[in-house]
Amino acid sequence: MKSSILLGCLLALTSMYSFANDKAIQSGQELATAKGCAGCHGMDGNSMAPTFPSLAGQHVEFLVEQLQHYRSGYRVNPMMQPMATGLSDKEIYDLASFYAAQPMKTTGNAAAVDAETLKHGSAQAYVQKCTACHGEEGIAGTPQYPNIKGQHAMYIVQQLQAYRSGSRLNTLMQSQAAGLDDKTINALAAYFSTR
Ligand code: HEC
Ligand code: HEC
Repeated sequence: MKSSILLGCLLALTSMYSFANDKAIQSGQELATAKGCAGCHGMDGNSMAPTFPSLAGQHVEFLVEQLQHYRSGYRVNPMMQPMATGLSDKEIYDLASFYAAQPMKTTGNAAAVDAETLKHGSAQAYVQKCTACHGEEGIAGTPQYPNIKGQHAMYIVQQLQAYRSGSRLNTLMQSQAAGLDDKTINALAAYFSTR
């Protein structure tokens, strides 16, 4: 008897949670169209342009954090800062929930980089360093570490260069990128974009 009451409560809580979550996803989808995000990031968060990151299937926590960073000016980008400036915390959460719930397609686009360079041994060693945080095949098990599987190669190259030059701030990634030469960056981007 007691256990069936407990089970009932648990089911009610779970359905309340998924209802709230569904509402966030739906509101996020409406916002993505209304705010013009879809124009650059794709209707379902899989972007077509190699310098516009795909957001589909990314961790909610990571998307929320990055939008807050653009809004505060900590992450500098002339396209994204004006987009994020007017967003409320709830809008950021809803948008992140929507994109996180979309199926990720492998966009890859490794044509932009020289995949052959991956054969160069040191890049293989780097792949193993990266997967320690970003997970096997670029799917990260920890929500603060972004998934990089299937991300556009050109976007990955730009971000690694930005960490290396210090124009994108993050202690972990700045130290990871510090020692990478352009050839290794290209090889890593080709590798992760085509997983
Ligand atoms: C004009 C094109 C454009 C529009 C419109 C746009 N974005 Fe972006 N977005 C970009 C570009 C370019 C980047 C990468 C910028 C950089 O290098 O920091 C980006 C980056 C992001 C990131 C970080 C992704 C990551 O993997 O680090 C998020 C999250 C994001 N956009 C969400 C949004 C949302 C939500 C909207 C609508 C409110 C939006 N964007 C509208 C072009 C756009
Ligand atoms: C110690 C953990 C760790 C290691 C090792 C690591 N990363 Fe990261 N990476 C992170 C974190 C945390 C972020 C998010 C940083 C931020 O907020 O800008 C990130 C961000 C990134 C991004 C930007 C993703 C996006 O969507 O904006 C790319 C690309 C990336 N890492 C590639 C790599 C590559 C390639 C390697 C191997 C050379 C690597 N990382 C090693 C933790 C790590």
